[in-house]
Amino acid sequence: MLSYHDQRLWVEGQPLRALAAGMPTPFYLYSLPALERRIARLKDAFPHAWLTFAYKANRHPVLLHRLASHGLGADVVSLGELRAARAAGVPANRIIVNGNAKTRAELEAAVQMGVGLIQLDAAEEVPRLADVVARVGREANVGLRINPGLDMATHPHLKVGARGSHFGIPPDQVLATARAVTKTPGLRLRGIHLHVGSQLTDVAALEVIAQEAARWYRTLRGAGYPIEVVNLGGGWGIDYAGTGREIEPHEVARRVAQAFAGEAVRIALELGRWLVGPVGMLVVRVVQVKRAWGRTFIAVDGGMNALLRPALYAARHRILPERQGEPITPADVVGPNCESADVLARDVPLPPLREGDLLVILDAGAYGETMANTYNARPLPPALVLNEPATTPEA
Ligand code: LLP
Repeated sequence: MLSYHDQRLWVEGQPLRALAAGMPTPFYLYSLPALERRIARLKDAFPHAWLTFAYKANRHPVLLHRLASHGLGADVVSLGELRAARAAGVPANRIIVNGNAKTRAELEAAVQMGVGLIQLDAAEEVPRLADVVARVGREANVGLRINPGLDMATHPHLKVGARGSHFGIPPDQVLATARAVTKTPGLRLRGIHLHVGSQLTDVAALEVIAQEAARWYRTLRGAGYPIEVVNLGGGWGIDYAGTGREIEPHEVARRVAQAFAGEAVRIALELGRWLVGPVGMLVVRVVQVKRAWGRTFIAVDGGMNALLRPALYAARHRILPERQGEPITPADVVGPNCESADVLARDVPLPPLREGDLLVILDAGAYGETMANTYNARPLPPALVLNEPATTPEA
């Protein structure tokens, strides 16, 4: 997707400089061919699964349409995401509704639409959903989000399935919640769900989740509950550091098949980061190069307003210059907002830079544009999608 020709950066066969000419910076740049390649890898490894895209990771309509046109469903957590999924052409029965604080309005829209699954986050949600199905007059398929109490190796903000977390139903309440759902007219218990963390880079962690899910599946089936769908959530890690290693779908598929050997179960996945992270980048422009305190600070026109991940999670994204050159100077790339946290990356090897030069921040396709904000009254960054005839300028 990225290469240098005559020391200038090209993206999917086009010079970045030409692509950026018509765009205000900072802007997001997405590659549809790269997205296609990742969808193909996923579908190849999981041909029979209920594959959904976690809408919180990216909201660009062109990407959402493309994902939907390949048959991917949607994992949504708000009315806005529910509407985006329908607008992208996702059939209602491929939508999974998640969330730990679903409002009655959100539940009502989901039930009215006839979504594939509504995943309960708490025993306390049963009576609320019961009211909604009674009022709407339609039945709803329900999954239980189980919090298995597994502590995964990732950033503390990205763990959601450890003991004490506010997400999901704790193990000691699962059977009672299953019973309550089954006793409620209009609710059909169909699935279980485990999503315990994000950016999990070791496939062994995904194996542990699959085994834990299989254990719950067998327990609930054994107790007479007609569980058909096991949703293993998302969480697959990507290669932010550029080591060449990332979660390989076939490896996950093999471990999932082992965990569920002999079971006629339908596996569901809700992948966000893995599908779209590597297909997007943030393009920023150098505003000023400052030398102070024995360091070099490259101030650029987009920081924690455009890409919040470094400030919020100490996430490290690779940064490449549009124009290669020698010598390489370690520099701190800083944003324009009045916050000490507004540092995109420290000690980045970069050639000498001057005002107006472009830099690209890699792997920004997931949780980049969706978490952008208007801090310091800056506008939200626009986006350009490569290979989309309507928006691709002449290269
Ligand atoms: N399913 C559920 C129930 C989730 O809560 C999430 C993400 C996903 C699926 C998708 O997870 P993924 O495949 O993308 O790891 N803003 C953070 C990530 C927060 C993830 C929240 N939940 C970041 O920028 O790293």
